[in-house]
Amino acid sequence: MIVWSIANQKGGVGKTTTTITLAGLLSQQGKRVLLVDTDPHASLTTYLGYDSDNVPVSLFDLFQLKEFTEQTVAPLIMQSNIEGIDIIPAHMSLATLDRVMGNRSGMGLILKRALLALRKRYDYVLIDCPPILGVMMVNALAASDRILIPVQTEFLAMKGLERMVRTLAIMQKSRGKSFNVTIVPTMYDKRTRASLQTLQQLKRDYPEQVWSSAVPIDTKFRDASLKHLPVSHFASGSRGVFAYKQLLLHLERLSING
Ligand SMILES: Nc1ncnc2c1ncn2[C@@H]1O[C@H](COP(=O)(O)OP(=O)(O)OP(=O)(O)O)[C@@H](O)[C@H]1O
Ligand SMILES: [Mg+2]
Repeated sequence: MIVWSIANQKGGVGKTTTTITLAGLLSQQGKRVLLVDTDPHASLTTYLGYDSDNVPVSLFDLFQLKEFTEQTVAPLIMQSNIEGIDIIPAHMSLATLDRVMGNRSGMGLILKRALLALRKRYDYVLIDCPPILGVMMVNALAASDRILIPVQTEFLAMKGLERMVRTLAIMQKSRGKSFNVTIVPTMYDKRTRASLQTLQQLKRDYPEQVWSSAVPIDTKFRDASLKHLPVSHFASGSRGVFAYKQLLLHLERLSING
């Protein structure tokens, strides 16, 4: 089982879009994919067509469990309408976790322990993070083999990325092991100077981490979200799908090379 978190403390950079698009592509390859929605705003849960106020189970329930076995964790999983994609949905109560339990010891490793109990069920777990550093993001990062950081190719993007990189450095210190990081340039518009310059700057400042291509601006992403479908299941020949297929190949190569 491979676990990726999709994270950036900056909002609206394409985290949820990257999560659902990669999940769609992986499921089309016959992979068993579990999505984990850690954002109290529940965008990913809503994307898949659920009313997040009324989900019967949610990630919040995971944080109430006393032990983490397949029997205790599996009931929190919901099957989506897309073959091969399951989800542990989010609920807005997740926003209270920091206040209620943020300081409890072992709190940061709950998701990791839970996913370990599901390791035989899934090939991939994709964790969609909220744009805030809190107990949910800490759990997501600790559970992951790789962190994907979508970065919007515009002028203010670098500041958000620097903040995220600092967060990872702090967490790295306490866990004593470095994170595998892939920066994913998103919403790239080759006609604008901002896009070109941001991409150049990313390649210069993060040559080891940045995926050297970029996800283009494509209205098909929004159209697909309105249909509650991954774009791979809605507009399979679109530019956006092509780009994420390339990203997936890149990530597969990275995991082969360790
Ligand atoms: N490559 C793209 N081209 C055009 N629109 C895009 C692209 N990627 C994402 N979008 C759109 O941009 C908006 C924000 O994307 P998304 O919800 O994925 O960002 P996010 O980082 O998850 O946001 P948040 O921080 O609020 O969780 C959405 O409406 C989405 O459809
Ligand atoms: Mg999101």
